[in-house]
Amino acid sequence: MRFCEPESLRWGFPVGFKPKYERGIRIDMSDKTQMRTIKPATGLRGEVRVPGDKSISHRSIMLGSLAEGTTRVSGFLMGEDNLATWRAFASMGVNIRQLGETELEIEGCGLDGLREPGDVLDCGNSGTTMRLMTGLLAGQSFFSVLTGDQYLRRRPMKRVVGPLGEMGARIWGRDGGERAPLAIQGARLRPVNYVSPVASAQVKSAILLAGLYTEGETTVREPHLSRDHSERMLGCFGADLRPFSGGVSLTGRPRLKAQDLLIPGDISSAAFFLVAGLIVPGSELLIANVGINPTRCGVIDVLRAMGGQIELVNERLQSGEPVADLLVKHSNLKGIEIGGELVPRAIDEFPVISVAAAVAEGVTTVRDAAELRVKETDRIAAMVSELSRLGVEVESLPDGMRINGRGEFAGGEVSSHGDHRIAMSLAMAALAATGPVTIDDTSCTETSFPGFWRLLAGLCQGE
Ligand code: S3P
Repeated sequence: MRFCEPESLRWGFPVGFKPKYERGIRIDMSDKTQMRTIKPATGLRGEVRVPGDKSISHRSIMLGSLAEGTTRVSGFLMGEDNLATWRAFASMGVNIRQLGETELEIEGCGLDGLREPGDVLDCGNSGTTMRLMTGLLAGQSFFSVLTGDQYLRRRPMKRVVGPLGEMGARIWGRDGGERAPLAIQGARLRPVNYVSPVASAQVKSAILLAGLYTEGETTVREPHLSRDHSERMLGCFGADLRPFSGGVSLTGRPRLKAQDLLIPGDISSAAFFLVAGLIVPGSELLIANVGINPTRCGVIDVLRAMGGQIELVNERLQSGEPVADLLVKHSNLKGIEIGGELVPRAIDEFPVISVAAAVAEGVTTVRDAAELRVKETDRIAAMVSELSRLGVEVESLPDGMRINGRGEFAGGEVSSHGDHRIAMSLAMAALAATGPVTIDDTSCTETSFPGFWRLLAGLCQGE
């Protein structure tokens, strides 16, 4: 791995870091919210590279900070969510240095080396930052407070505060610990044997991170396997971890050793171009270097079941994660039923899956996906409302939605609801619309996909 060291880069905050503002405020339609109009497209062709995986990038900072030695990360996602995690660890005394566009060096300070932050830690829009850090901070010897933007402060936190309480954590929040800001007084934790009612990697990871600070074995069971990046990376860093069918156990107080990590492209970002390639006639796209961890690639299974032609090329293993290039061709899609264990494996992709379903022939039904209601926004309500505005026949279900595919979208005006994945999904719908589609607030895509609009414009120009 080669690193460069431009002089302008310093320890502390990332280059180009700008303070975050609250998004989606309708009164202000200045450039902060970035209203955009997207025109229909034909024949998208070429090679696309998407930014690094968001979930893995968060974990690289967290485990790199807790390890002994210097961790080098390549392919780090410089999105707003990950920068929030970066800033939080910098505030706790960790030296994190940017070496290149997507390369970092983290000077680990060991399991007990974090320092009390002098101010509230702002997680921005990032649920992963807040929930995982709640677990991590619960076992420290200091006091800390976590907050976030208007969307994150509405999201449920009891799902981590509850089990952490069973471990002896002392955490307070609004609505009896359900909503941020969360105040955490570090405490001596004990191991737990927790059966989670939801398949959630954030819950599982929060408990495992807290489990690092206990003497003994912590076990988490979940109804279906959620993404296992924490387990894989903890394993790479040398933690004693035993996955079993239905759960995972971890022995506390490991010595974590610094690693060189190569982060693959984010399948959740690749998913937009998978769908674009499938629904825009005449398209053929190669999406290079994408993580295909089986706990994440449900979207490929769903789109293939709908009749999508997606080929995995050059499969390989990188820093403990499977990776491939994805070749996608325009296909005639058909409606399907989606539910069960597939849902957590595709949980972030349902907004764009609903776009593919609207183009498919026949009815697509999504069930068992009530978790979508507590994401960055209620993604069932948001997609039902916005797809309807584009002329799609779509019905909301308590735990999903039913979409009657009709081949195309009408043009019109839609809202991102300040949610990055809704904004990008609607942009994909716009490509297959009969007229221009205007999206009210597109600045939110910075959360997970900096450079998205440039990439999209480049593809469309190449028609
Ligand atoms: C994430 C887990 C998922 C996902 C989120 C990222 C993670 O949330 O929706 O975008 O990095 O652990 P849940 O664990 O709540 O399902």
